[in-house]
Amino acid sequence: MAEREHLEALLQESRLFPPPPEFAARANVNSPDIYAEAARDRLAFWARQAERLHWFRKWDQVLQWDPPFAKWFVGGKLNAAYNCLDRHLDSWRRTKAAIIWEGEPGEERVLTYQDLHREVCRFANALKALGVQRGDRVTIYLPMIPELPIAMLACARIGAVHSVVFGGFSAEALRDRIRDAQARVVITADGGWRRGGVIPLKKNTDAAVAQAPSVEKVVVVRRIGDEALVAGHWTPGRDLWWHDLVRDQPETCPAEEMDAEDPLFILYTSGSTGKPKGVLHTTGGYLTQVATTTWMVLDLKDDDIYWCTADIGWVTGHSYVVYGPLALGGTTVMYEGAPDYPDRGRFWQIVQKYRVSIFYTAPTAIRSFMKWGEEWPARYDLSSLRLLGTVGEPINPEAWIWYHRHIGRERCPIVDTWWQTETGAILISPLPGVTAAKPGSATRPLPGIEAEVVDGSGEPVRPGEGGFLVITSPWPGMLRTLWGDPDRYVNTYFGKFGPTVYFTGDGAKKDPDGYIVILGRVDDVISVAGHRVGTWEVESALVDHPAVAEAAVIGRSHEVKGQAITAFVILREGYRPGPELEQELKQHVAQKIGAIARPEEIIFTADLPKTRSGKIMRRLLRDIAEGRALGDTTTLADPAVVATLKAQYEEKEAGD
Ligand code: WT7
Repeated sequence: MAEREHLEALLQESRLFPPPPEFAARANVNSPDIYAEAARDRLAFWARQAERLHWFRKWDQVLQWDPPFAKWFVGGKLNAAYNCLDRHLDSWRRTKAAIIWEGEPGEERVLTYQDLHREVCRFANALKALGVQRGDRVTIYLPMIPELPIAMLACARIGAVHSVVFGGFSAEALRDRIRDAQARVVITADGGWRRGGVIPLKKNTDAAVAQAPSVEKVVVVRRIGDEALVAGHWTPGRDLWWHDLVRDQPETCPAEEMDAEDPLFILYTSGSTGKPKGVLHTTGGYLTQVATTTWMVLDLKDDDIYWCTADIGWVTGHSYVVYGPLALGGTTVMYEGAPDYPDRGRFWQIVQKYRVSIFYTAPTAIRSFMKWGEEWPARYDLSSLRLLGTVGEPINPEAWIWYHRHIGRERCPIVDTWWQTETGAILISPLPGVTAAKPGSATRPLPGIEAEVVDGSGEPVRPGEGGFLVITSPWPGMLRTLWGDPDRYVNTYFGKFGPTVYFTGDGAKKDPDGYIVILGRVDDVISVAGHRVGTWEVESALVDHPAVAEAAVIGRSHEVKGQAITAFVILREGYRPGPELEQELKQHVAQKIGAIARPEEIIFTADLPKTRSGKIMRRLLRDIAEGRALGDTTTLADPAVVATLKAQYEEKEAGD
């Protein structure tokens, strides 16, 4: 059947994909009883899950809920690095591959649990030698190389709080995050490979640290080895090579006994207003939930080769490249570079080479693969795959079916996993051995999770109706606060429906089967290739340019990226619109924030649609950019503005 017909048939039938019996027979979870069991006594369920970990001391109380502030496993003592390393050493897993790493240029490094433990201990000792203590913040700005998880686990081992900043972020974005966390140490590299080119990480770090006085030391991994990357970018006394620092360090280092509620890491994410939010995760609840979901959703077992393609700079990489798989003693694959380098078969070549059995990626990547053509995966042996996953944004049924056919070869279940930086771990997803999947739906909340779709007054909506996605009771991996800003934590997540109902910022609906379909953000956050970008951040970057008087930024649907950024810009007196200025402004935004925030298109305009109180009506800008009929314009101060803008936009589109 042609792809199209196949898809249409599917949409009409809203066909369900039950777990393949061979898969279900071996799945970690293969009975639906787990839902009822968890619902009967949610806290007992989570306490049983926490038993998966090694505790130096067990908790006195499972949950202490002082809405909206939660504490899990109160009184419990554990160490995340101990759980990811030491406890695997007294079994055959000592010599099992913990990390299989492949560099973009093609190098390979395999670290067994024994190797990883040794490297983490040496670096933990090095951090201590630099004066890093329990509770201190360490910013990590590294490419996807083994030193990244090594640095994270070394922090966890000594009780320091890591704050990983994605290597694609700019010097300014890095500076803001270092300053907010007041980090004492920054860990970076001379550079990182991306699509054959080099990202100058040390140079960016220098620019950031120059304006971040809390930083005492900068540790630099030699990744590229080109002197030019550090020449003129080296401050003696402050900057130290990683390899010099670890050379004489002892190969063991005691794991600190951390409280279950001690901070494990901060990870910054975009909000709809203001500076990025420092999402704070703690130790016991977070690790319990990432380990549990890696086991029940990603079905990780001892004989799997597991590959989550996310960069560790995002939460997906924290939870499902590092902490989840290592807590279970699994083998996790890390790839440094781009999916189309040196050619568009790179991912499938990696799957074939290491015999990857579980593959977890983003819908935007799948849409790129679709565009590149099925002949790329068809060239490789993908028979080792047994489970596929997606995360980061809604997956359109067409992409789901393509993934199912051309990657899963119609044998592998697909788990569409919904969660957020703030939730720490997956909350809504099929259980691959139990739940029938439906393309485009993350299906239902996991055992132990209570989610609902509600209207503006907090009442559950009827099936088929749209509303807001909320989580109605606390869960172990939830963020505990926003770093240094508890008020913003309360207002952002618990301001809309009261202190006991977590507002996700997503719109959703329940379909007639009770399955949840995520519709996307309802706040001013754009999801570009699955990454959150705040409209406010891009607008601030634009008005920072001397030519720009005012800017309004929206997301419009994009074939591959899901959403792309469109900016409407009013120029200052004396500046002339044109392609050159358009390029310059795009470049300016990329430099201020990072390449992910670069606008796809810039529309120069004389005016913006505003309400009488002066608020920009982004909804109308979205209507214009999506080519839709304009919604309600009665609240506009000057309705003529949008008509002019619409005509102008259509003219530009026709010209492009
Ligand atoms: C936002 C969170 C969670 C790791 C990656 C993103 C969207 C995430 C799905 C999904 C539909 C999804 C939501 C959410 N999202 N997963 N399976 N289906 N939408 O983390 O940067 O914190 O973004 O990503 O809009 O709120 P994040």
